[in-house]
Amino acid sequence: MERKILITGANGQIGKVLTNSLRDVYGHNNVLSTDIRKIPDLEPPFEFLDILNTVRMREIIGDYDITDVYHMAALLSASGEYNPLKTWNVNFNAFHHLLEFAKEGIIKRLFFPSTIAVFGSTTPKKNTPQDVPLLPETIYGISKSTGELMSNYYYHKFGVDVRSIRYPGIISHQSIPEGGTTDYAVEIFHAAVKGEDYVCFLDENTRLPMMYISDAIKATIDIMAEQSEHIKSRYSYNLTAMSFTPKELYEEIKKHYPDFKIIYQPDFRQKIAESWSESIDDSRARQEWGWQNEYDLSTMTDDMIYNLKIKYGKE
Ligand code: SER
Repeated sequence: MERKILITGANGQIGKVLTNSLRDVYGHNNVLSTDIRKIPDLEPPFEFLDILNTVRMREIIGDYDITDVYHMAALLSASGEYNPLKTWNVNFNAFHHLLEFAKEGIIKRLFFPSTIAVFGSTTPKKNTPQDVPLLPETIYGISKSTGELMSNYYYHKFGVDVRSIRYPGIISHQSIPEGGTTDYAVEIFHAAVKGEDYVCFLDENTRLPMMYISDAIKATIDIMAEQSEHIKSRYSYNLTAMSFTPKELYEEIKKHYPDFKIIYQPDFRQKIAESWSESIDDSRARQEWGWQNEYDLSTMTDDMIYNLKIKYGKE
């Protein structure tokens, strides 16, 4: 059967690129973007949607005969700390309603974006396995780990076809992310290409798992296209492409901009970063549905700089 897709949070860092990529795969008019904010450079079909308005959400799903929903709307780790209730409602409660819609059979498939923020200080930091006790320390991590547990529950109890990935920090040139702890790894490129110094909000030796946007999109599309029986973990899958520190990223960018300067001024996000993993064991995703990354630190840096030079007219 043809897929009719709805994306919540289509104006976000991943949502925007995902919408365009899904349109290439499933046909332009089969992918409906929704967001609470207008999306300047995204073509219709588009609907304004406050995802806390579940009556409207149900209406839109019916009007467009939606089969698949990607719940990309979220408050991230840093901004979430300023508004725990809203973070819980957007990240988890809205998703819980979607699980119910899937249980009722109104939609067929659901994608839940999880994150390395589900880990906490009690998690092994290096090569973190998929199955570890989760004790997240941010409301963002709590909302996402609850989403994972509920996905697992709705799959086993009601047969809901829900699939999920624990994204590491995502690096992209298409937009500037807001409210995350890994955002420094995007901001730094903009500063370098614009010829500015960069003030980094994390300490130089803070190692975090990361991934280039093209790989994140490929993983998202692949896991949702995979035969259901291959998706054995219904809470989520560990996923990674590389791990680096701000200093290592800075050194890599300096190969392109030898005069580029960085100043380290860690703020409250340092503590959040320190509670997460340094590197991830994603062998389950690699074995079970063939996940493979394409970009590493050096090729990602080349591609980011290439695209941002075009954006800022610096070719
Ligand atoms: N990129 C997210 C954040 O920094 C982690 O999933 O909050």
